[in-house]
Amino acid sequence: MRLVIKDTSDDVSLWSALYVKARILEAKPDHRKYFVLGLPTGGTPKGMYLELVKMCKAGELSFKYVKTFNMDEYVGLDRDHPESYHSFMWENLFKHIDIHPDNVNILDGNAENLVEECNGFEKKIVEAGGIDLFIGGIGPDGHIAFNEPGSSLVSKTRVKTLNKETIVANSRFFGGRECDVPTQALTVGVQTILDAREVMILITGSHKALALHYAIEEGINHMWTVTALQQHPKAVFVCDEDATLELKVKTVKYFKDLMTLHDKSITPNLG
Ligand code: PGA
Repeated sequence: MRLVIKDTSDDVSLWSALYVKARILEAKPDHRKYFVLGLPTGGTPKGMYLELVKMCKAGELSFKYVKTFNMDEYVGLDRDHPESYHSFMWENLFKHIDIHPDNVNILDGNAENLVEECNGFEKKIVEAGGIDLFIGGIGPDGHIAFNEPGSSLVSKTRVKTLNKETIVANSRFFGGRECDVPTQALTVGVQTILDAREVMILITGSHKALALHYAIEEGINHMWTVTALQQHPKAVFVCDEDATLELKVKTVKYFKDLMTLHDKSITPNLG
């Protein structure tokens, strides 16, 4: 596991966008071999999406041969509702880049049969050749996607009931009204994320500091589902200074000393 510590959340956005760009350029995707991205919603990745849009508009990066799979979607919220993850993704990324809509995969939280919808999503990931790079955020309680504390660490895409903490956290997107936040969601499982060839997690703000401490310095624990990534052969955490507040000084120092090495991974190796 690698930990990249940047000064601010804006620096996290830029570094993570450069990382995505480098991986896509290196893969040299074409019509026979698409690059497959797993994508999150939420406040944290917005800045990264902004940077990716800029790169795409500047002609430095194309999503023509990129397929995407989103992590999650609320159950029962209209697809066109401003807070649906469909709306979020189109507003913040897809409508600004050259991705073909057929290559975008977002779970349908209004499907008649939610179990079939989830199983079909897993099947589509396999048919796409698996996910090359899964990007995620975490909740203050260490959840990854909607895998709330106590979720199975070998879980696949399924229906989850949201816990109180997540409903309170997400009520900020619903005018502060907890009663308007859907109580269930479809979400990829922890294992779905672990199956990706690479995983990048973005963490910003002091309210995520305890979750980052568990992720990096404590053991694997289903009460902090992000800790499962300790078992992943290629996981990178990108955080700002505020998120490091609960880490040991020696942990921060160790990873900061590796920054020159980490920065090599944002320069594409086109060899
Ligand atoms: P946030 O959400 O980026 O809006 O903080 C992250 C999450 O809950 O997974």
